[in-house]
Amino acid sequence: MGRVLVTRRLPDGGLDPLAGHDLVGPNPDDAPYTPEELCANARECDAIVSLLTDRIDAGVLGAGAETGRLRVVANVAVGYDNIDVRTAAALGITVCNTPGVLDDTTADTAFLLILAASRLASTAEADLRTGRWKGWSVTQYLGHDVHGATLGLVGFGRIGRAVARRAEGFGMRVFHHARHPTNEPGYVGGLDELLPEADIVSLHTPGGPDTHHLIDARRLALMKPTAVLVNTARGTVVDERALAEALHRGRLFAAGIDVYEREPEVDPRLLSAPRTVLLPHIGSASQATRTRMATMATTAVATVLAGGTPPNVVTPT
Ligand code: GLV
Repeated sequence: MGRVLVTRRLPDGGLDPLAGHDLVGPNPDDAPYTPEELCANARECDAIVSLLTDRIDAGVLGAGAETGRLRVVANVAVGYDNIDVRTAAALGITVCNTPGVLDDTTADTAFLLILAASRLASTAEADLRTGRWKGWSVTQYLGHDVHGATLGLVGFGRIGRAVARRAEGFGMRVFHHARHPTNEPGYVGGLDELLPEADIVSLHTPGGPDTHHLIDARRLALMKPTAVLVNTARGTVVDERALAEALHRGRLFAAGIDVYEREPEVDPRLLSAPRTVLLPHIGSASQATRTRMATMATTAVATVLAGGTPPNVVTPT
């Protein structure tokens, strides 16, 4: 049995796999731990169940290695750009994530944003709620059809593929770009070739340095002025300020965004941008999926502490 830091509140049942272990945290008000608190706990715990709001950097991992106690960090997220996986590997600390259990829920969110942004749902709803809607008119809130549109997927892992399956039902033409050729129908080798073709671009890459500002001002300018950009991946994949400016200048029709560069901050220019649907990082936020994610992470911790190897170990690329 081990001592396990659980940094934040988990959905009901999420801690069940850790029954019998000595649990530390979360803070009573669910406030994230400070870097100093993470280091102090890393020194005294065998495992950390972390969230993407925790920076598990070389400092925290090094603190865990100092005492030789920290054996595993399990992130309750499929993304792990908040964890320094290379340092963890060098120190012999196992890192786990939650692949596979959130693909459909996140793809649903991407589709929610594709539909809502293309059809100007947030603008129309805000007008209704604030009394600016003065009655039906044949020329108001004219969005773009999603059915029959061309969808460009950037990243074609499990979530990108789940979005492609949904797009079929809408009669969309679907192209995808990925770092490595997929040899599948619809693959486009160059991102710069995909962007001008798509009516809707949906991002499904990991975060981290390799994809930082993959969609920058230059690439936004390659998109059709009638296009819609959707991001349910990581905020850092898009230059948020450049996106805001493109929307303000009418260089892009609309955007549906769930993730931000400096969460929970959102660039004020994006907040005031027209034709924009903004969600607070709810991609995987269904009760069933968040419970599955928590259980997968805590099961991985229990497995490592029992001397086993869970299936969801992250290996540095
Ligand atoms: C959520 O953003 C996740 O990576 O699971």
